[in-house]
Amino acid sequence: MMPVMRFATRQIHAGVEPDPTTGAILTPIYQTTTFVQESVDAYLSKGYSYSRSGNPTVQALENKLTDLEGGAGAATFSTGMAAIHAVLLAFLNAGDHAIVSDVAYGGTYRLCTKIFTRFGVEFTFADTSNADDVKKSVRDNTRLILTETPANPTLKLTDIAAVSDIAQGHGIPHAVDNTFLTPYYQRPIELGADLVIHSTTKYLDGHNATIGGAVVSRTAELDEKVRFVQNATGSIMSPQVAWLTLQGAKTLTVRMDAQSANAMVIAKFLESHPKVETVCYPGLPSFPQHELATRQASGYGAMVWFEVQGGVAAGKKIMDSLKLWTRAENLGAVESLVTHPVTMTHADVEEAERKRVGITDGLVRLSVGLEDVDDLIDDLKQALDNA
Ligand SMILES: Cc1ncc(COP(=O)(O)O)c(C=O)c1O
Repeated sequence: MMPVMRFATRQIHAGVEPDPTTGAILTPIYQTTTFVQESVDAYLSKGYSYSRSGNPTVQALENKLTDLEGGAGAATFSTGMAAIHAVLLAFLNAGDHAIVSDVAYGGTYRLCTKIFTRFGVEFTFADTSNADDVKKSVRDNTRLILTETPANPTLKLTDIAAVSDIAQGHGIPHAVDNTFLTPYYQRPIELGADLVIHSTTKYLDGHNATIGGAVVSRTAELDEKVRFVQNATGSIMSPQVAWLTLQGAKTLTVRMDAQSANAMVIAKFLESHPKVETVCYPGLPSFPQHELATRQASGYGAMVWFEVQGGVAAGKKIMDSLKLWTRAENLGAVESLVTHPVTMTHADVEEAERKRVGITDGLVRLSVGLEDVDDLIDDLKQALDNA
């Protein structure tokens, strides 16, 4: 048996065995719909029946993610949104109530308010950075707490251990969207959470190549509930996407460390620029929850946001004059991206709700990539100086 290995080793080797038929070092892309059964009585003797219900390439990624997050099992999905959808479907029924972080990816808010409410599920969008707000929001019919930390796009943090305590006290599962920090920097299950959600589209893939999602569960029982929805609804990850994500995940630590180091340099540069009014990065001592960021995660990540003098018009002008930074949705990949959440990722969050939770019109979000940091700064500098 292999001894217990450290994270950087496990990101490469966990979940993957040489192919039993050929010895191929990479798990092959098992591009097949169905699996031949030896006999009626030996049905499933090789573990697979039909690729919606399970596929060896997809399973290899699920095993890797289970290992990296320290869970009992994982299910992967066609997108991060499908993963969140599966958690809501697995744990909520008509008449139930869920508490969701008031700042979260716009698609999460849209899914809750525009789809699940149609089926009689109620939501409270609570300030989950404040444990008292979470406590006060719990009702007799609360069946799920879903937090996102750091939250997209404001980077507000939730104290995972504090909210998990409240959830446990009421026997409610706590699901954490860990997309921004990945298991390399933050392991919610170790902090008491029950389910960990990922948009694997972001850092786990890391190359702007795929769209995918995952849910890692603390127990086999929770995993079974999520996997039941995965098979029943069919929004599965394809073997090609699983294969690319398996390769991307092998360099997670190297990319995260380099991108986060770039982010720190960029955040400090922005803080020193006279035209910049606000800079937000969990690694800066000026970040309001810097102590929590340092305590609950082992890195600060590579997401930064800022606002400039002159508000929205000036922010848009700066975005439009960037040459190396790419104006695009998505985050977490090796290419540095710049996003205007109000018109892009969070356009479906109503203006009043955006204002209530601090997603301001002038907020410019940076996903810091792997380029030479001096080139990234030169580009920001020319855009700011000419604004
Ligand atoms: C924190 C977070 N969770 C979930 C999602 C949804 O993931 P996907 O785009 O893979 O459906 C996103 C997308 O930006 C995200 O930022």
